[in-house]
Amino acid sequence: MSYIPAETRYDKMIYNRCGKTGLKLPAISLGLWHNFGDDTPHQTKQAILHTAFDLGITHFDIANNYGPPAGSAETAFGRIMAEDFRDLRDEMIISSKAGYHMWNGPYGEWGSRKYLVASCDQSLKRTGLEYFDIFYSHRFDPDTPLEETMGALDYIVRSGRALYAGISSYNSQRTREAAAILKDLGTPCIIHQPSYNILNRWVETDGLKETMADLGMGSIAFVPLAQGMLTNKYLKGIPSGSRASQGKSLDPGVLTDHAVASLNKLNDLAASRGQTLAQMALAWVLRDGGITSALIGASKPEQVTDCVGALANLSFTAAELAEIDRISLERDINLWAKSSAD
Ligand SMILES: NC(=O)c1ccc[n+]([C@@H]2O[C@H](COP(=O)([O-])OP(=O)(O)OC[C@H]3O[C@@H](n4cnc5c(N)ncnc54)[C@H](OP(=O)(O)O)[C@@H]3O)[C@@H](O)[C@H]2O)c1
Repeated sequence: MSYIPAETRYDKMIYNRCGKTGLKLPAISLGLWHNFGDDTPHQTKQAILHTAFDLGITHFDIANNYGPPAGSAETAFGRIMAEDFRDLRDEMIISSKAGYHMWNGPYGEWGSRKYLVASCDQSLKRTGLEYFDIFYSHRFDPDTPLEETMGALDYIVRSGRALYAGISSYNSQRTREAAAILKDLGTPCIIHQPSYNILNRWVETDGLKETMADLGMGSIAFVPLAQGMLTNKYLKGIPSGSRASQGKSLDPGVLTDHAVASLNKLNDLAASRGQTLAQMALAWVLRDGGITSALIGASKPEQVTDCVGALANLSFTAAELAEIDRISLERDINLWAKSSAD
């Protein structure tokens, strides 16, 4: 039977304005980095997307290289769009990106116009979409003039391949430069996608959070749950089937005894607020209105439901915030530090 979306889907979700634009994004968005490749059953992917949409998640984030293999998450998303969401395209914000390695040779990664435009065309073909709502430069390229990379984003928007342009993991200085170039071209940079969570606060120390506010740019924080560390998943060690157990992007080496003890303390604090640890971690990212949306991943529909439950309590006392800082002081995990260092 084909999917019928829940009538109640817009009842509880919070929609935040993306910077100073007309676009609103759900406070929780869903990314397809993991769990949408050929290693995951089709029904699981469908169930995750159905649950998300039923809960008011209207924004779905992909990239050319998501899988495995690279490209397969876009193909899977395209199939589910065609099968289940065909008539719902205008209720959805779908983004893709290019920047990381996608194909061999000198034109398959980084920030040239050649790569970005070709990759966007490939992503449109794989997803079967006529356009993306947002198209991102996935990382700053130190060897390509920023004018060329931003010029490619401007062209992608002007040619109808995307409605809006965005950047990901650019540091504060590069963000200002990129925004100025795009402004001159007449295609504003409406959104930045940085990593940000309780254990990874580079957007604060780099000044990026202030820069985004200053530029009127929206922001969507990726890995808000530190890839699952900021959930109840690793409180007793590394369970089988978890991301850390699969040799994927979460290095089990970061889950030291000391780290697990800190996670348990954070979990106790979350419980005292009547939240799961995942809910408190998402509330923390959204706490001061400086972040438009928290971009989660999920391997099960129940995780999406739990995460959306965060919206019931987004406020913190000063004592709670201080306690979170004290517990998490010694952790600094940012796999994307290199991208924002250039
Ligand atoms: N721009 C960039 O360079 C970049 C880089 C990375 C990610 N991203 C984007 O950010 C998205 C999110 O990344 P992410 O998946 O690493 O984010 P995350 O939300 O920090 O981690 C998601 C993982 O946490 C676990 N989880 C989620 N909700 C849970 C819950 N309620 N209870 C228990 N466990 C829960 C699951 O782990 P298990 O799978 O172990 O169950 C899930 O796969 C990506 O899909 C992508 O769109 C962008």
